[in-house]
Amino acid sequence: METDALRLDGVCKSFGGVQALTNVNLRVSKGEVLGVIGENGAGKSTLMKIIAGVMPPDKGTISLDGSVVHFGSPADAARHGVAMVYQDLALCDNLDAVSNLFLGAEIVGRRWPGARRRRGAMRRSTEELLERLGIKLRSLDLPVGQLSGGQRQAIAVSRAIMRDPKVVIFDEPTAALAVNQRDEVLRAIARLRSEGHAVLVVSHELVDVRSISDRIIVLRLGGVAAEFTAKEGYAEHELVAAIVGMSASAGAPNAKAGVELHGDNG
Ligand SMILES: Nc1ncnc2c1ncn2[C@@H]1O[C@H](COP(=O)(O)OP(=O)(O)OP(=O)(O)O)[C@@H](O)[C@H]1O
Ligand SMILES: [Mg+2]
Repeated sequence: METDALRLDGVCKSFGGVQALTNVNLRVSKGEVLGVIGENGAGKSTLMKIIAGVMPPDKGTISLDGSVVHFGSPADAARHGVAMVYQDLALCDNLDAVSNLFLGAEIVGRRWPGARRRRGAMRRSTEELLERLGIKLRSLDLPVGQLSGGQRQAIAVSRAIMRDPKVVIFDEPTAALAVNQRDEVLRAIARLRSEGHAVLVVSHELVDVRSISDRIIVLRLGGVAAEFTAKEGYAEHELVAAIVGMSASAGAPNAKAGVELHGDNG
């Protein structure tokens, strides 16, 4: 059997008295998109942050391509091939797209005689990357603070994947985007899948998650409550039932019966 690109075993995390994650196991293959859904506070972002090296788990292990890894920081996780597109995007508004992409990775300092040529090289590789992802930017030279939410999202996506990571994590990638911008982000995710990346997508937009995911896990109260695969098929009301912690099978032939729990009282 093929080894999983990413695998988590028995991951636990608590914050003071709050048990945010309890014994989470998951795996993602190369070329697979895993959707992660769940109510507010279910533990989705905490889980993604652990995978991205923002914080260590209290217990449990993370493996990449079958080897256990320990991340000391997000930069460390990035070196191991894990990239994350953050919910708040984390771009520098006063810099343009090229500078945002190469921030911290610039080839030379500005005072070097070759700096201008380097800028040309960075600009060209930015254009190539955007082309590969099918992303159109209004301008590479405007400060990104002047670009729309969708354009900013596109830059954040490009930045996360420019170093060709094994695992790419999106936390709410389509929240607050207009429909055409959403489609662009979803297309970029599909492109990543076809290039063999393992992709995790956290979202409250069930329509988007369903359209893009090969498999979906539902987090509830810090644990994996259910799993659905696109191949086997599932109905939207089953996702919703798992999110709120109701048994969908109880009412499977008739969706309404599953929703009206209190009808059985007494
Ligand atoms: N840094 C922190 N310090 C203390 N508690 C935290 C911290 N981060 C998360 N929590 C708690 O852990 C639990 C899980 O939070 P998390 O942000 O992972 O949820 P989520 O599923 O991403 O929710 P949302 O859908 O609202 O983004 C919540 O009870 C939250 O209050
Ligand atoms: Mg969150």
